[in-house]
Amino acid sequence: DNIIPVITIDGPTASGKGTVASRVAERLGFHLLDSGALYRLTALSALRAGANLADETAVAQVGHYLDCSFVGDQVFLGKEEVTEAIRAEEVGNSASRIAALPAVRQALFDLQLRFRTAPGLVADGRDMGTVIFPGAQLKVFLTASVAARAERRYKQLIGKGFSANMDGLLADLQARDARDMNRAVAPLAPAADAHLLDTSNMTADEAVEQVLGWYAEK
Ligand code: CDP
Ligand code: CDP
Repeated sequence: DNIIPVITIDGPTASGKGTVASRVAERLGFHLLDSGALYRLTALSALRAGANLADETAVAQVGHYLDCSFVGDQVFLGKEEVTEAIRAEEVGNSASRIAALPAVRQALFDLQLRFRTAPGLVADGRDMGTVIFPGAQLKVFLTASVAARAERRYKQLIGKGFSANMDGLLADLQARDARDMNRAVAPLAPAADAHLLDTSNMTADEAVEQVLGWYAEK
């Protein structure tokens, strides 16, 4: 299994992980794991079931029995398409809260490993290079300034027809950063052997070329 190549792309919210990971996967013909979507799906499913998001055991059960599938760019919870629904800020914030619960992370562990199939995988998230795929062939840690990330998220939300306000987004983003970096399990941090890439002043395509360049050097 460990001979199937994996490229991990970790970083804070709105650093461009998802965009860069999916373009790199497309260019290499690799599979894609959007691990954040698994936390978002678990959060959405738990919210809908009326579970208390602080109830670690209950939410971990939801994660363990998560019935999700990825078809092209579409995401399904059971038979329902939830591609847009899981992108709502409320779901993202709930995802970040439940992601701090060790039993929830454990419940999603094996599911993530199963995405490593031939010819290769690009995995994006917070702990892809540190916890889930520590033996990855290439590890990248994307960063960008808080201002650049808030601006990106703003444009993305407006473009999808959600309402957004910049002050609220900045506050949410900083709260999310703090929660992701300070939690006890799998905190957001670059792996010791990760390549750091600050994309504050880069386009997504420039970041993609850099990642492909590093991969070609391997
Ligand atoms: O798009 P954004 O970066 O805001 O979030 P995401 O990647 O979709 O992930 C949603 C939440 O899930 C994040 O705030 C993280 O707290 C959590 N997450 C995690 O803990 N570990 C991962 N590997 C991926 C996401
Ligand atoms: O997955 P993550 O939350 O890290 O970010 P994303 O969902 O990929 O969103 C990043 C947004 O910023 C997308 O709309 C990209 O087109 C844009 N962007 C980028 O990803 N990378 C840059 N270097 C510049 C802009």
